[in-house]
Amino acid sequence: MFQRLALLALLAGALPATAQQTADSVAPETGAATGAMAASPAVQAALDAKAAGQPVAAQTWMIAAANPLAVEAGAKALATGGSAADAMVAVQAVLGLVEPQSSGLGGGAFLVWYDAATGEVTTLDGRETAPLAATPTLFQTADGEPLKFFDAVVGGRSVGVPGTPALMQAAHDRWGQSDWAGLFTDAIALAEGGFAVSPRLAALVARDAERLSRFAATRTYFLPGGTPLAEGDRLTNVAYGQTLRSLAAHGAEAFYSGPIAQDIVTTVRTAAGNPGVMAPIDLAIYQVKERDPVCVAYRAHDVCGMGPPSSGALTVGQILGMLDGYDLSAGPEEADVWRLIGDASRLAFADRGRYMADSDFVPVPVNGLVDPVYLADRATLLAGGDALPEVAPGSPAFDHALNWADDDSLEFPSTSHISIVDAAGNALSMTTTIENGFGSRLMAAGGFLLNNELTDFSFRTHRNGVPIANRVEPGKRPRSSMSPTIVLKDGEPVLVVGSPGGSRIIGYVAKTIIAHLDWGLDVQTAVSLPHAVNRFGTYDLEEGTSAAELEAGLQTFGYETNLRGLNSGLHAISVGPDGLLGGADPRREGIALGD
Ligand code: GLY
Repeated sequence: MFQRLALLALLAGALPATAQQTADSVAPETGAATGAMAASPAVQAALDAKAAGQPVAAQTWMIAAANPLAVEAGAKALATGGSAADAMVAVQAVLGLVEPQSSGLGGGAFLVWYDAATGEVTTLDGRETAPLAATPTLFQTADGEPLKFFDAVVGGRSVGVPGTPALMQAAHDRWGQSDWAGLFTDAIALAEGGFAVSPRLAALVARDAERLSRFAATRTYFLPGGTPLAEGDRLTNVAYGQTLRSLAAHGAEAFYSGPIAQDIVTTVRTAAGNPGVMAPIDLAIYQVKERDPVCVAYRAHDVCGMGPPSSGALTVGQILGMLDGYDLSAGPEEADVWRLIGDASRLAFADRGRYMADSDFVPVPVNGLVDPVYLADRATLLAGGDALPEVAPGSPAFDHALNWADDDSLEFPSTSHISIVDAAGNALSMTTTIENGFGSRLMAAGGFLLNNELTDFSFRTHRNGVPIANRVEPGKRPRSSMSPTIVLKDGEPVLVVGSPGGSRIIGYVAKTIIAHLDWGLDVQTAVSLPHAVNRFGTYDLEEGTSAAELEAGLQTFGYETNLRGLNSGLHAISVGPDGLLGGADPRREGIALGD
Protein backbone atom coordinates (compact mmCIF):
# COMPACT_ATOMS: atom_id res chain seq x y z
CA MET A 1 0.00 0.00 0.00
CA PHE A 2 2.84 2.36 0.90
CA GLN A 3 4.30 1.81 -2.57
CA ARG A 4 1.00 2.62 -4.24
CA LEU A 5 0.51 5.79 -2.23
CA ALA A 6 4.12 6.75 -2.85
CA LEU A 7 3.71 6.28 -6.60
CA LEU A 8 0.51 8.31 -6.57
CA ALA A 9 2.31 11.07 -4.70
CA LEU A 10 5.15 11.00 -7.21
CA LEU A 11 2.70 11.12 -10.10
CA ALA A 12 0.62 13.86 -8.53
CA GLY A 13 3.37 16.44 -8.86
CA ALA A 14 3.20 16.31 -12.65
CA LEU A 15 -0.46 17.02 -13.16
CA PRO A 16 -2.13 20.41 -13.01
CA ALA A 17 -4.86 21.01 -10.46
CA THR A 18 -8.28 20.02 -11.76
CA ALA A 19 -9.67 22.94 -13.70
CA GLN A 20 -12.95 24.62 -12.96
CA GLN A 21 -15.77 23.61 -15.28
CA THR A 22 -15.71 26.79 -17.29
CA ALA A 23 -16.20 25.50 -20.81
CA ASP A 24 -19.10 27.23 -22.43
CA SER A 25 -17.27 27.69 -25.73
CA VAL A 26 -17.10 24.80 -28.20
CA ALA A 27 -14.11 26.15 -30.13
CA PRO A 28 -10.69 24.76 -29.19
CA GLU A 29 -8.36 27.46 -27.96
CA THR A 30 -4.72 27.81 -27.06
CA GLY A 31 -3.50 29.22 -23.78
CA ALA A 32 -0.96 32.00 -23.67
CA ALA A 33 1.55 30.49 -21.26
CA THR A 34 4.62 28.68 -22.52
CA GLY A 35 7.20 26.44 -20.92
CA ALA A 36 7.31 22.69 -20.35
CA MET A 37 6.23 21.33 -16.98
CA ALA A 38 8.81 19.36 -15.04
CA ALA A 39 8.46 15.58 -15.19
CA SER A 40 7.48 13.82 -11.98
CA PRO A 41 10.23 11.70 -10.33
CA ALA A 42 8.56 8.49 -11.55
CA VAL A 43 8.37 9.76 -15.11
CA GLN A 44 11.93 11.05 -14.98
CA ALA A 45 13.13 7.65 -13.78
CA ALA A 46 11.28 5.99 -16.66
CA LEU A 47 12.75 8.44 -19.17
CA ASP A 48 16.21 7.83 -17.74
CA ALA A 49 15.75 4.06 -18.03
CA LYS A 50 14.70 4.40 -21.66
CA ALA A 51 17.67 6.65 -22.44
CA ALA A 52 19.97 4.09 -20.85
CA GLY A 53 18.38 1.27 -22.84
CA GLN A 54 17.13 -0.40 -19.66
CA PRO A 55 13.66 -1.88 -19.15
CA VAL A 56 11.47 -0.64 -16.29
CA ALA A 57 10.92 -3.37 -13.69
CA ALA A 58 7.80 -3.92 -11.59
CA GLN A 59 6.00 -6.66 -9.66
CA THR A 60 2.30 -5.77 -9.71
CA TRP A 61 1.29 -3.82 -12.79
CA MET A 62 2.88 -2.14 -15.79
CA ILE A 63 1.82 0.26 -18.50
CA ALA A 64 3.67 1.45 -21.62
CA ALA A 65 2.33 4.05 -24.06
CA ALA A 66 3.34 6.95 -26.27
CA ASN A 67 3.24 9.96 -23.94
CA PRO A 68 4.23 10.38 -20.28
CA LEU A 69 1.10 12.35 -19.36
CA ALA A 70 -1.08 9.60 -20.78
CA VAL A 71 0.94 6.88 -19.07
CA GLU A 72 0.62 8.72 -15.75
CA ALA A 73 -3.16 8.81 -16.09
CA GLY A 74 -3.23 5.08 -16.74
CA ALA A 75 -0.80 4.42 -13.91
CA LYS A 76 -3.09 6.23 -11.49
CA ALA A 77 -5.98 3.99 -12.49
CA LEU A 78 -3.83 0.89 -11.98
CA ALA A 79 -2.36 2.13 -8.67
CA THR A 80 -5.84 2.62 -7.25
CA GLY A 81 -7.01 -0.90 -8.10
CA GLY A 82 -8.25 -0.29 -11.60
CA SER A 83 -8.08 -2.93 -14.29
CA ALA A 84 -6.14 -2.77 -17.54
CA ALA A 85 -9.39 -1.74 -19.23
CA ASP A 86 -9.83 1.17 -16.82
CA ALA A 87 -6.25 2.27 -17.41
CA MET A 88 -6.77 2.10 -21.17
CA VAL A 89 -9.76 4.48 -20.95
CA ALA A 90 -7.68 6.97 -18.94
CA VAL A 91 -4.68 6.66 -21.30
CA GLN A 92 -6.75 7.00 -24.47
CA ALA A 93 -8.54 10.08 -23.13
CA VAL A 94 -5.18 11.80 -22.54
CA LEU A 95 -3.55 10.56 -25.77
CA GLY A 96 -6.36 12.18 -27.75
CA LEU A 97 -5.29 15.49 -26.22
CA VAL A 98 -1.49 15.37 -26.06
CA GLU A 99 -0.83 13.18 -29.13
CA PRO A 100 -3.81 14.25 -31.27
CA GLN A 101 -1.99 13.54 -34.52
CA SER A 102 -2.01 9.79 -33.86
CA SER A 103 -5.19 8.71 -32.12
CA GLY A 104 -8.30 9.98 -30.40
CA LEU A 105 -12.06 9.96 -30.08
CA GLY A 106 -12.40 10.60 -33.81
CA GLY A 107 -10.56 7.40 -34.73
CA GLY A 108 -10.64 3.64 -34.25
CA ALA A 109 -8.73 0.88 -32.46
CA PHE A 110 -8.25 -2.85 -31.99
CA LEU A 111 -7.90 -4.37 -28.54
CA VAL A 112 -6.56 -7.81 -27.53
CA TRP A 113 -7.43 -8.94 -24.00
CA TYR A 114 -6.06 -11.79 -21.89
CA ASP A 115 -8.40 -12.53 -19.03
CA ALA A 116 -6.57 -13.76 -15.94
CA ALA A 117 -9.72 -15.23 -14.39
CA THR A 118 -10.63 -17.44 -17.36
CA GLY A 119 -7.32 -17.75 -19.20
CA GLU A 120 -9.09 -16.74 -22.40
CA VAL A 121 -7.94 -14.32 -25.07
CA THR A 122 -10.50 -12.25 -26.94
CA THR A 123 -10.41 -9.22 -29.22
CA LEU A 124 -12.56 -6.13 -29.66
CA ASP A 125 -12.85 -4.52 -33.08
CA GLY A 126 -13.43 -0.77 -32.80
CA ARG A 127 -12.44 -0.09 -36.40
CA GLU A 128 -13.89 2.87 -38.26
CA THR A 129 -16.64 1.96 -40.68
CA ALA A 130 -17.61 3.20 -44.12
CA PRO A 131 -20.88 5.18 -44.16
CA LEU A 132 -23.89 3.46 -45.69
CA ALA A 133 -23.81 5.95 -48.58
CA ALA A 134 -20.17 5.11 -49.48
CA THR A 135 -19.72 3.37 -52.82
CA PRO A 136 -16.81 1.32 -54.23
CA THR A 137 -15.74 4.30 -56.36
CA LEU A 138 -15.44 6.64 -53.34
CA PHE A 139 -11.77 7.29 -54.07
CA GLN A 140 -11.94 7.55 -57.85
CA THR A 141 -12.19 10.45 -60.25
CA ALA A 142 -15.13 10.79 -62.63
CA ASP A 143 -12.95 8.89 -65.14
CA GLY A 144 -12.55 5.93 -62.80
CA GLU A 145 -8.92 6.70 -61.94
CA PRO A 146 -7.71 6.48 -58.32
CA LEU A 147 -7.48 9.86 -56.56
CA LYS A 148 -4.06 11.07 -55.48
CA PHE A 149 -3.55 10.00 -51.87
CA PHE A 150 -3.73 13.40 -50.17
CA ASP A 151 -6.59 14.53 -52.43
CA ALA A 152 -8.51 11.65 -50.86
CA VAL A 153 -7.24 12.12 -47.29
CA VAL A 154 -7.82 15.80 -46.59
CA GLY A 155 -11.51 16.55 -46.08
CA GLY A 156 -14.68 14.62 -45.33
CA ARG A 157 -14.49 11.87 -47.94
CA SER A 158 -11.96 9.77 -46.01
CA VAL A 159 -13.69 9.93 -42.63
CA GLY A 160 -14.98 6.61 -41.30
CA VAL A 161 -17.46 6.34 -38.45
CA PRO A 162 -15.25 6.53 -35.34
CA GLY A 163 -15.01 3.45 -33.14
CA THR A 164 -12.73 4.50 -30.29
CA PRO A 165 -15.35 5.94 -27.89
CA ALA A 166 -17.52 2.83 -28.29
CA LEU A 167 -14.48 0.60 -27.77
CA MET A 168 -13.55 2.43 -24.56
CA GLN A 169 -17.08 1.91 -23.31
CA ALA A 170 -17.24 -1.74 -24.39
CA ALA A 171 -13.94 -2.59 -22.69
CA HIS A 172 -15.01 -0.84 -19.51
CA ASP A 173 -18.42 -2.56 -19.56
CA ARG A 174 -16.74 -5.96 -19.80
CA TRP A 175 -13.65 -5.58 -17.65
CA GLY A 176 -13.79 -2.26 -15.82
CA GLN A 177 -13.38 -2.06 -12.04
CA SER A 178 -13.22 1.71 -11.58
CA ASP A 179 -15.92 4.33 -11.79
CA TRP A 180 -16.22 5.26 -15.49
CA ALA A 181 -16.51 9.01 -14.98
CA GLY A 182 -13.42 9.18 -12.77
CA LEU A 183 -11.28 7.80 -15.58
CA PHE A 184 -11.62 11.10 -17.44
CA THR A 185 -10.49 13.33 -14.56
CA ASP A 186 -6.86 13.70 -15.60
CA ALA A 187 -7.67 14.25 -19.27
CA ILE A 188 -10.26 16.92 -18.40
CA ALA A 189 -7.79 18.65 -16.07
CA LEU A 190 -5.12 18.68 -18.75
CA ALA A 191 -7.54 19.84 -21.46
CA GLU A 192 -8.84 22.71 -19.38
CA GLY A 193 -5.71 23.52 -17.38
CA GLY A 194 -3.27 23.09 -20.22
CA PHE A 195 -0.30 20.91 -21.09
CA ALA A 196 3.07 21.54 -22.72
CA VAL A 197 3.24 20.83 -26.44
CA SER A 198 5.74 18.01 -26.94
CA PRO A 199 8.69 18.23 -29.34
CA ARG A 200 7.16 15.61 -31.61
CA LEU A 201 3.78 17.33 -31.82
CA ALA A 202 5.44 20.67 -32.54
CA ALA A 203 7.63 19.18 -35.27
CA LEU A 204 4.70 17.43 -36.93
CA VAL A 205 2.53 20.57 -36.85
CA ALA A 206 5.32 22.54 -38.53
CA ARG A 207 5.75 19.84 -41.18
CA ASP A 208 2.04 19.66 -41.94
CA ALA A 209 1.25 23.37 -41.60
CA GLU A 210 -0.19 23.79 -45.09
CA ARG A 211 -2.70 20.95 -44.82
CA LEU A 212 -3.59 21.86 -41.23
CA SER A 213 -4.36 25.39 -42.41
CA ARG A 214 -7.07 24.37 -44.85
CA PHE A 215 -9.89 24.23 -42.29
CA ALA A 216 -10.59 27.05 -39.84
CA ALA A 217 -11.05 24.99 -36.65
CA THR A 218 -7.88 22.99 -37.29
CA ARG A 219 -5.91 26.10 -38.21
CA THR A 220 -7.05 27.98 -35.10
CA TYR A 221 -5.99 25.13 -32.83
CA PHE A 222 -2.68 24.07 -34.35
CA LEU A 223 -1.56 27.39 -35.83
CA PRO A 224 -2.94 30.05 -33.47
CA GLY A 225 -2.50 33.47 -35.06
CA GLY A 226 -1.08 31.71 -38.12
CA THR A 227 2.01 30.40 -36.29
CA PRO A 228 2.55 26.66 -35.77
CA LEU A 229 2.50 25.52 -32.15
CA ALA A 230 6.00 25.36 -30.72
CA GLU A 231 7.56 22.88 -28.33
CA GLY A 232 6.71 23.86 -24.77
CA ASP A 233 3.71 26.03 -25.68
CA ARG A 234 1.00 25.66 -23.08
CA LEU A 235 -2.04 24.35 -24.95
CA THR A 236 -5.59 24.08 -23.68
CA ASN A 237 -8.53 22.43 -25.43
CA VAL A 238 -11.64 23.47 -23.56
CA ALA A 239 -13.90 21.95 -26.20
CA TYR A 240 -12.23 18.56 -25.75
CA GLY A 241 -12.66 18.87 -21.99
CA GLN A 242 -16.34 19.50 -22.56
CA THR A 243 -16.61 16.43 -24.82
CA LEU A 244 -14.95 14.33 -22.14
CA ARG A 245 -17.35 15.68 -19.54
CA SER A 246 -20.24 14.51 -21.75
CA LEU A 247 -18.68 11.06 -22.16
CA ALA A 248 -17.99 10.85 -18.42
CA ALA A 249 -21.57 11.76 -17.56
CA HIS A 250 -23.48 9.87 -20.25
CA GLY A 251 -21.12 7.22 -21.65
CA ALA A 252 -20.21 6.69 -25.29
CA GLU A 253 -23.85 7.18 -26.24
CA ALA A 254 -23.19 10.92 -25.90
CA PHE A 255 -20.81 10.62 -28.85
CA TYR A 256 -23.02 8.62 -31.22
CA SER A 257 -26.18 10.71 -30.94
CA GLY A 258 -27.04 14.28 -30.01
CA PRO A 259 -24.94 17.37 -30.62
CA ILE A 260 -21.50 15.69 -30.83
CA ALA A 261 -22.72 13.25 -33.50
CA GLN A 262 -24.59 15.97 -35.38
CA ASP A 263 -21.49 18.15 -35.44
CA ILE A 264 -19.34 15.28 -36.78
CA VAL A 265 -21.81 14.74 -39.62
CA THR A 266 -21.93 18.44 -40.44
CA THR A 267 -18.13 18.76 -40.34
CA VAL A 268 -17.73 15.80 -42.71
CA ARG A 269 -20.50 16.80 -45.12
CA THR A 270 -19.51 20.45 -45.38
CA ALA A 271 -15.73 20.00 -45.70
CA ALA A 272 -14.76 22.54 -48.35
CA GLY A 273 -13.59 20.95 -51.59
CA ASN A 274 -13.86 17.34 -50.45
CA PRO A 275 -17.09 16.60 -48.56
CA GLY A 276 -18.00 13.17 -47.25
CA VAL A 277 -21.23 11.20 -47.11
CA MET A 278 -21.60 10.33 -43.42
CA ALA A 279 -25.11 10.61 -41.97
CA PRO A 280 -26.50 10.47 -38.41
CA ILE A 281 -27.68 6.89 -38.98
CA ASP A 282 -24.05 5.79 -39.52
CA LEU A 283 -23.11 6.92 -36.03
CA ALA A 284 -26.33 5.64 -34.49
CA ILE A 285 -25.75 2.06 -35.70
CA TYR A 286 -21.99 1.86 -34.96
CA GLN A 287 -21.05 -1.36 -33.12
CA VAL A 288 -17.93 -2.71 -31.48
CA LYS A 289 -17.46 -6.32 -32.61
CA GLU A 290 -16.03 -9.00 -30.36
CA ARG A 291 -14.06 -11.46 -32.48
CA ASP A 292 -12.01 -14.59 -31.91
CA PRO A 293 -8.27 -13.96 -31.79
CA VAL A 294 -6.00 -15.33 -34.49
CA CYS A 295 -3.28 -17.41 -32.81
CA VAL A 296 -0.21 -19.02 -34.37
CA ALA A 297 2.34 -21.35 -32.77
CA TYR A 298 5.93 -20.07 -32.69
CA ARG A 299 8.81 -21.53 -30.68
CA ALA A 300 6.33 -23.38 -28.44
CA HIS A 301 4.44 -20.14 -27.72
CA ASP A 302 1.03 -18.97 -28.92
CA VAL A 303 1.18 -15.61 -30.66
CA CYS A 304 -2.34 -14.13 -30.52
CA GLY A 305 -3.67 -11.00 -32.15
CA MET A 306 -6.34 -9.24 -34.15
CA GLY A 307 -7.92 -10.97 -37.11
CA PRO A 308 -9.84 -9.34 -39.98
CA PRO A 309 -10.50 -6.55 -40.69
CA SER A 310 -6.92 -6.26 -39.49
CA SER A 311 -4.29 -8.09 -41.48
CA GLY A 312 -2.02 -7.81 -38.42
CA ALA A 313 -2.28 -11.19 -36.71
CA LEU A 314 -2.57 -13.12 -39.98
CA THR A 315 0.52 -11.51 -41.50
CA VAL A 316 2.65 -11.52 -38.33
CA GLY A 317 1.43 -15.10 -37.82
CA GLN A 318 2.34 -16.15 -41.34
CA ILE A 319 5.85 -14.69 -41.00
CA LEU A 320 6.46 -16.46 -37.70
CA GLY A 321 4.77 -19.66 -38.84
CA MET A 322 7.05 -19.88 -41.89
CA LEU A 323 10.14 -19.15 -39.76
CA ASP A 324 9.30 -21.68 -37.07
CA GLY A 325 11.18 -24.41 -38.92
CA TYR A 326 14.31 -22.29 -39.39
CA ASP A 327 17.11 -21.60 -36.92
CA LEU A 328 17.49 -17.85 -36.33
CA SER A 329 19.91 -18.21 -33.43
CA ALA A 330 22.79 -16.61 -35.37
CA GLY A 331 21.16 -13.34 -34.30
CA PRO A 332 20.43 -9.89 -35.66
CA GLU A 333 23.95 -9.22 -37.00
CA GLU A 334 23.66 -12.10 -39.49
CA ALA A 335 22.40 -11.11 -42.95
CA ASP A 336 21.13 -14.62 -43.73
CA VAL A 337 18.80 -14.41 -40.74
CA TRP A 338 17.31 -11.27 -42.28
CA ARG A 339 17.06 -13.03 -45.67
CA LEU A 340 14.80 -15.59 -43.99
CA ILE A 341 12.77 -12.94 -42.13
CA GLY A 342 12.57 -10.68 -45.19
CA ASP A 343 11.39 -13.34 -47.63
CA ALA A 344 8.92 -14.81 -45.12
CA SER A 345 7.56 -11.27 -44.86
CA ARG A 346 7.36 -10.85 -48.63
CA LEU A 347 5.45 -14.13 -48.97
CA ALA A 348 3.08 -13.07 -46.19
CA PHE A 349 2.52 -9.65 -47.76
CA ALA A 350 1.67 -11.31 -51.08
CA ASP A 351 -1.13 -13.26 -49.36
CA ARG A 352 -2.17 -10.16 -47.43
CA GLY A 353 -2.57 -8.13 -50.63
CA ARG A 354 -4.81 -10.75 -52.21
CA TYR A 355 -6.86 -12.31 -49.44
CA MET A 356 -7.16 -10.05 -46.39
CA ALA A 357 -10.06 -7.65 -45.87
CA ASP A 358 -13.16 -7.25 -43.71
CA SER A 359 -14.39 -10.84 -43.32
CA ASP A 360 -17.93 -9.62 -42.62
CA PHE A 361 -18.05 -8.56 -46.27
CA VAL A 362 -15.76 -10.90 -48.20
CA PRO A 363 -14.81 -14.48 -47.40
CA VAL A 364 -11.27 -14.49 -45.95
CA PRO A 365 -9.52 -17.86 -45.62
CA VAL A 366 -8.49 -17.13 -42.02
CA ASN A 367 -7.86 -20.74 -41.06
CA GLY A 368 -6.22 -21.58 -44.38
CA LEU A 369 -3.81 -18.65 -44.18
CA VAL A 370 -2.32 -19.77 -40.85
CA ASP A 371 -2.75 -23.51 -41.31
CA PRO A 372 0.57 -25.11 -40.24
CA VAL A 373 0.62 -27.42 -43.28
CA TYR A 374 0.12 -24.47 -45.65
CA LEU A 375 2.80 -22.40 -43.88
CA ALA A 376 5.26 -25.30 -43.86
CA ASP A 377 4.74 -25.63 -47.60
CA ARG A 378 5.25 -21.89 -48.18
CA ALA A 379 8.34 -22.05 -45.93
CA THR A 380 10.07 -24.46 -48.32
CA LEU A 381 10.44 -21.45 -50.65
CA LEU A 382 12.88 -19.97 -48.11
CA ALA A 383 15.30 -22.89 -48.32
CA GLY A 384 17.50 -21.42 -51.10
CA GLY A 385 20.42 -19.15 -50.30
CA ASP A 386 19.33 -16.00 -52.16
CA ALA A 387 16.49 -13.51 -52.10
CA LEU A 388 13.44 -14.94 -53.85
CA PRO A 389 13.47 -13.56 -57.39
CA GLU A 390 9.68 -13.40 -57.46
CA VAL A 391 6.98 -13.65 -54.83
CA ALA A 392 3.35 -14.53 -55.51
CA PRO A 393 0.38 -15.25 -53.28
CA GLY A 394 -0.13 -18.87 -52.28
CA SER A 395 -3.29 -20.93 -52.39
CA PRO A 396 -4.56 -21.29 -48.84
CA ALA A 397 -7.52 -23.57 -48.23
CA PHE A 398 -10.68 -21.56 -48.86
CA ASP A 399 -14.14 -22.18 -47.48
CA HIS A 400 -15.50 -20.66 -50.69
CA ALA A 401 -14.24 -20.81 -54.26
CA LEU A 402 -13.32 -17.22 -55.01
CA ASN A 403 -10.92 -15.29 -57.16
CA TRP A 404 -9.44 -12.02 -55.84
CA ALA A 405 -7.09 -9.55 -57.44
CA ASP A 406 -4.08 -8.07 -55.60
CA ASP A 407 -4.81 -4.69 -54.08
CA ASP A 408 -2.90 -1.45 -53.95
CA SER A 409 -4.13 0.05 -50.68
CA LEU A 410 -1.84 2.76 -49.37
CA GLU A 411 -1.02 3.02 -45.69
CA PHE A 412 1.06 5.71 -44.07
CA PRO A 413 2.62 5.58 -40.62
CA SER A 414 0.83 7.26 -37.74
CA THR A 415 -1.09 5.59 -34.93
CA SER A 416 -0.22 4.74 -31.28
CA HIS A 417 0.11 1.61 -29.16
CA ILE A 418 -0.81 0.89 -25.51
CA SER A 419 0.37 -2.19 -23.56
CA ILE A 420 -0.91 -2.85 -20.02
CA VAL A 421 -0.74 -5.63 -17.42
CA ASP A 422 -2.84 -5.06 -14.30
CA ALA A 423 -2.54 -6.30 -10.72
CA ALA A 424 -4.95 -9.17 -11.38
CA GLY A 425 -2.76 -10.40 -14.24
CA ASN A 426 -5.05 -9.27 -17.06
CA ALA A 427 -3.17 -8.13 -20.16
CA LEU A 428 -4.32 -5.57 -22.72
CA SER A 429 -2.73 -4.78 -26.08
CA MET A 430 -4.42 -1.99 -28.03
CA THR A 431 -3.36 -0.18 -31.18
CA THR A 432 -5.27 3.03 -31.79
CA THR A 433 -5.28 5.38 -34.76
CA ILE A 434 -6.71 8.20 -36.78
CA GLU A 435 -4.63 6.84 -39.74
CA ASN A 436 -2.52 9.58 -41.34
CA GLY A 437 -0.79 12.12 -39.07
CA PHE A 438 -3.68 14.48 -38.06
CA GLY A 439 -6.15 12.22 -39.93
CA SER A 440 -8.46 14.04 -42.32
CA ARG A 441 -7.27 17.38 -40.85
CA LEU A 442 -10.90 18.06 -39.93
CA MET A 443 -11.42 19.05 -36.32
CA ALA A 444 -14.82 18.54 -34.80
CA ALA A 445 -16.29 21.28 -32.62
CA GLY A 446 -15.76 18.86 -29.75
CA GLY A 447 -11.99 19.43 -29.97
CA PHE A 448 -10.85 16.17 -31.60
CA LEU A 449 -9.57 15.34 -35.07
CA LEU A 450 -11.55 13.13 -37.41
CA ASN A 451 -9.82 10.12 -38.97
CA ASN A 452 -9.04 9.43 -42.64
CA GLU A 453 -9.26 5.66 -42.10
CA LEU A 454 -11.28 5.01 -45.26
CA THR A 455 -8.11 5.56 -47.30
CA ASP A 456 -6.96 2.18 -45.93
CA PHE A 457 -9.39 0.71 -48.49
CA SER A 458 -8.13 -0.02 -51.99
CA PHE A 459 -8.84 2.97 -54.24
CA ARG A 460 -9.32 0.57 -57.16
CA THR A 461 -12.27 -1.82 -57.16
CA HIS A 462 -10.99 -4.35 -59.71
CA ARG A 463 -7.82 -5.38 -61.46
CA ASN A 464 -8.19 -6.90 -64.96
CA GLY A 465 -11.88 -7.40 -64.23
CA VAL A 466 -11.23 -9.33 -61.00
CA PRO A 467 -12.61 -7.74 -57.81
CA ILE A 468 -10.30 -6.58 -55.02
CA ALA A 469 -11.24 -7.90 -51.57
CA ASN A 470 -10.41 -4.63 -49.79
CA ARG A 471 -12.53 -2.39 -52.03
CA VAL A 472 -14.90 0.14 -50.43
CA GLU A 473 -18.40 -1.08 -49.59
CA PRO A 474 -21.10 0.54 -47.44
CA GLY A 475 -20.78 -0.44 -43.79
CA LYS A 476 -17.45 -2.24 -44.38
CA ARG A 477 -14.29 -1.74 -42.29
CA PRO A 478 -11.03 -0.96 -44.11
CA ARG A 479 -8.22 -3.46 -43.86
CA SER A 480 -5.66 -2.55 -41.21
CA SER A 481 -2.08 -3.51 -40.43
CA MET A 482 -2.46 -2.86 -36.73
CA SER A 483 -1.03 -5.80 -34.82
CA PRO A 484 -1.82 -5.61 -31.11
CA THR A 485 -0.36 -8.88 -29.84
CA ILE A 486 -0.24 -11.02 -26.71
CA VAL A 487 2.24 -13.94 -26.70
CA LEU A 488 1.39 -16.81 -24.36
CA LYS A 489 3.38 -19.73 -23.00
CA ASP A 490 1.35 -22.61 -21.59
CA GLY A 491 -1.69 -20.35 -21.58
CA GLU A 492 -0.08 -17.48 -19.62
CA PRO A 493 0.98 -14.16 -21.17
CA VAL A 494 4.73 -13.61 -21.53
CA LEU A 495 4.80 -10.64 -23.91
CA VAL A 496 2.37 -7.80 -24.68
CA VAL A 497 3.41 -5.77 -27.72
CA GLY A 498 2.32 -3.56 -30.61
CA SER A 499 3.35 -0.52 -32.63
CA PRO A 500 2.27 2.22 -35.01
CA GLY A 501 3.90 2.41 -38.44
CA GLY A 502 1.40 1.75 -41.25
CA SER A 503 2.02 -1.58 -42.94
CA ARG A 504 5.54 -1.65 -41.43
CA ILE A 505 3.80 -2.34 -38.10
CA ILE A 506 3.82 -6.00 -39.10
CA GLY A 507 7.60 -6.08 -39.47
CA TYR A 508 8.20 -4.11 -36.28
CA VAL A 509 6.05 -6.46 -34.22
CA ALA A 510 7.42 -9.65 -35.80
CA LYS A 511 10.99 -8.43 -35.19
CA THR A 512 10.30 -7.65 -31.54
CA ILE A 513 8.80 -11.09 -30.94
CA ILE A 514 11.78 -12.77 -32.64
CA ALA A 515 14.23 -10.59 -30.68
CA HIS A 516 12.60 -11.61 -27.40
CA LEU A 517 11.94 -15.29 -28.08
CA ASP A 518 14.83 -16.26 -30.38
CA TRP A 519 17.57 -13.90 -29.28
CA GLY A 520 16.64 -13.66 -25.62
CA LEU A 521 16.63 -9.85 -25.58
CA ASP A 522 14.79 -8.04 -22.79
CA VAL A 523 11.82 -5.94 -23.93
CA GLN A 524 13.64 -2.61 -23.99
CA THR A 525 16.52 -4.00 -26.02
CA ALA A 526 14.11 -5.83 -28.32
CA VAL A 527 12.07 -2.66 -28.89
CA SER A 528 15.18 -0.51 -29.46
CA LEU A 529 16.87 -3.02 -31.79
CA PRO A 530 17.46 -1.41 -35.22
CA HIS A 531 14.81 -2.22 -37.79
CA ALA A 532 15.12 -4.10 -41.07
CA VAL A 533 11.73 -4.39 -42.81
CA ASN A 534 10.81 -6.02 -46.09
CA ARG A 535 7.24 -5.87 -47.37
CA PHE A 536 7.34 -5.91 -51.15
CA GLY A 537 10.96 -6.64 -52.10
CA THR A 538 13.06 -3.61 -51.19
CA TYR A 539 14.78 -4.06 -47.84
CA ASP A 540 14.27 -0.97 -45.66
CA LEU A 541 17.16 -0.58 -43.20
CA GLU A 542 17.02 1.89 -40.34
CA GLU A 543 19.44 4.67 -41.14
CA GLY A 544 21.94 5.78 -38.52
CA THR A 545 21.90 2.36 -36.84
CA SER A 546 23.77 -0.91 -37.06
CA ALA A 547 21.08 -2.17 -39.46
CA ALA A 548 23.02 -0.28 -42.14
CA GLU A 549 25.81 -2.83 -41.69
CA LEU A 550 23.49 -5.48 -43.15
CA GLU A 551 23.33 -3.62 -46.47
CA ALA A 552 26.24 -5.27 -48.31
CA GLY A 553 25.23 -8.77 -47.23
CA LEU A 554 21.61 -8.27 -48.24
CA GLN A 555 22.64 -6.84 -51.60
CA THR A 556 24.75 -9.94 -52.18
CA PHE A 557 21.60 -12.03 -51.73
CA GLY A 558 19.96 -9.94 -54.44
CA TYR A 559 17.92 -7.42 -52.48
CA GLU A 560 17.56 -3.78 -53.32
CA THR A 561 18.18 -1.87 -50.07
CA ASN A 562 16.97 1.48 -48.82
CA LEU A 563 18.41 3.32 -45.80
CA ARG A 564 15.67 5.39 -44.19
CA GLY A 565 14.08 6.44 -40.92
CA LEU A 566 11.82 3.69 -39.58
CA ASN A 567 9.62 5.40 -37.05
CA SER A 568 8.04 2.66 -35.01
CA GLY A 569 6.39 3.31 -31.64
CA LEU A 570 6.71 -0.09 -30.01
CA HIS A 571 5.47 -0.47 -26.44
CA ALA A 572 6.03 -3.84 -24.83
CA ILE A 573 5.73 -5.60 -21.49
CA SER A 574 7.24 -8.97 -20.65
CA VAL A 575 5.89 -11.18 -17.89
CA GLY A 576 8.38 -13.56 -16.30
CA PRO A 577 9.18 -15.40 -13.10
CA ASP A 578 10.93 -12.28 -11.77
CA GLY A 579 8.05 -9.95 -12.53
CA LEU A 580 7.20 -7.43 -15.21
CA LEU A 581 9.55 -5.55 -17.51
CA GLY A 582 8.40 -2.64 -19.66
CA GLY A 583 9.98 -1.13 -22.77
CA ALA A 584 9.16 2.07 -24.65
CA ASP A 585 10.34 2.90 -28.14
CA PRO A 586 13.26 5.37 -28.13
CA ARG A 587 12.03 6.61 -31.52
CA ARG A 588 8.99 8.21 -29.82
CA GLU A 589 8.14 10.05 -26.61
CA GLY A 590 6.55 7.29 -24.55
CA ILE A 591 7.56 5.54 -21.35
CA ALA A 592 6.82 2.44 -19.32
CA LEU A 593 5.72 2.83 -15.70
CA GLY A 594 5.09 0.09 -13.17
CA ASP A 595 4.82 -0.77 -9.53
N1 GLY B 1 -4.25 3.10 -40.49
C1 GLY B 1 -3.28 2.23 -39.98
C2 GLY B 1 -3.75 0.82 -39.96
O1 GLY B 1 -4.89 0.60 -39.65
O2 GLY B 1 -3.01 -0.08 -40.25
